[in-house]
Amino acid sequence: MNDSIEQLGQHALQNTGVILAIETSCDETSVAVIQDGRKILSNVISSQIETHQLFGGVVPEIASRKHVEVITIIIEGALNQSGLALKDVSAVAVTQGPGLVGALLVGIVAAKSLSMALNVPLIGTHHIAGHIYANQLVHELTYPCLTLVVSGGHTELVLLEREGHFKIIGRTRDDAVGEAYDKVARALKLPYPGGPHIDRLAHEAEGAIPLPRAWLEADSYDFSFSGIKSAVLSSINQATMKGEAVQAAQLALGFQESVIDVLVTKAVRAVREFGATQLLLCGGVAANRGLRAALAARCEEEQIPLLIPPLTLCTDNAAMIGAAAHLKWQRREYSSLDLKADPSLSLEEWSVSQPVTL
Ligand code: KG4
Ligand code: ZN
Repeated sequence: MNDSIEQLGQHALQNTGVILAIETSCDETSVAVIQDGRKILSNVISSQIETHQLFGGVVPEIASRKHVEVITIIIEGALNQSGLALKDVSAVAVTQGPGLVGALLVGIVAAKSLSMALNVPLIGTHHIAGHIYANQLVHELTYPCLTLVVSGGHTELVLLEREGHFKIIGRTRDDAVGEAYDKVARALKLPYPGGPHIDRLAHEAEGAIPLPRAWLEADSYDFSFSGIKSAVLSSINQATMKGEAVQAAQLALGFQESVIDVLVTKAVRAVREFGATQLLLCGGVAANRGLRAALAARCEEEQIPLLIPPLTLCTDNAAMIGAAAHLKWQRREYSSLDLKADPSLSLEEWSVSQPVTL
């Protein structure tokens, strides 16, 4: 058993809260055991990527079936690794949405069963709140703070004026940034998921093919990535029609520079306008080396504290769900056992509503 857990003893364990968290919103089955919303006792992740790669993208039906196959064993694995037993669990958290409805359902059924059998609260959790609070597993957050959420399904600027209170000040009007990466990669005949391949190609490129930036209206914090994606596709088509070689690396760099320029500029402007004390980066695209480097350089210049979780906490995982669920656990804001999967769950509505009662 983990030393610090032994030292804490059973009473302290109950007071700090041990949350068993489940994430099955897309193509990762993950279960974590989190103490006090900050300490990861275990975080087991089983990826289905190899299966979906054969189809060039996530196939929802297959995702659900794969979650069913492994969920029990992943729960057992996470508990074993945590050094705790089921009786030590204070609450069960699960991603309620957004995500693929069939995939979400698998986690929700498992979570409800555990919550009922153990007679502990159930906490339906927002996937993006999870990505944001992944930061709290490694850093202390100060408020107000601003988050740049960049994932396969989301691109948002979220302002947290106080703990657990989410206000979306900008969002994509079309493709999410990860989705645009994956579509461009597909056009360049790169495997799924394409983001890491574009990142690598851009890194190797000697020069960039310049591509337009979608700034939208001067005061808008919204994003649009479908135009730039179309510009890449049309450049590929033109080269193919002329029988010329496609300049994949230069195109990848041009695409990446355009996307990063807009993301970084808008995020820094929002930090200033809303008086944020920190800028947080989160979501799968936070793994992008170009984005991390550009944000780090700009934040250093502007003296803005920048928080980025380690790579394993950027992509989908259950530890982040446990971290976000802890906000609700502290306030005794529990879900009922008729909780339903909600593919379009609102982040703002998921905000906490009460002060901490513990
Ligand atoms: O957050 P995430 O794991 O899943 C969702 O909730 O969507 O994000 C997955 C997305 C994919 O679109 C993938 O291509 C992208 O993150 N991604 C990257 C990189 N690593 C993953 N995009 C750009 N550069 C990367 N290094
Ligand atoms: Zn995600």
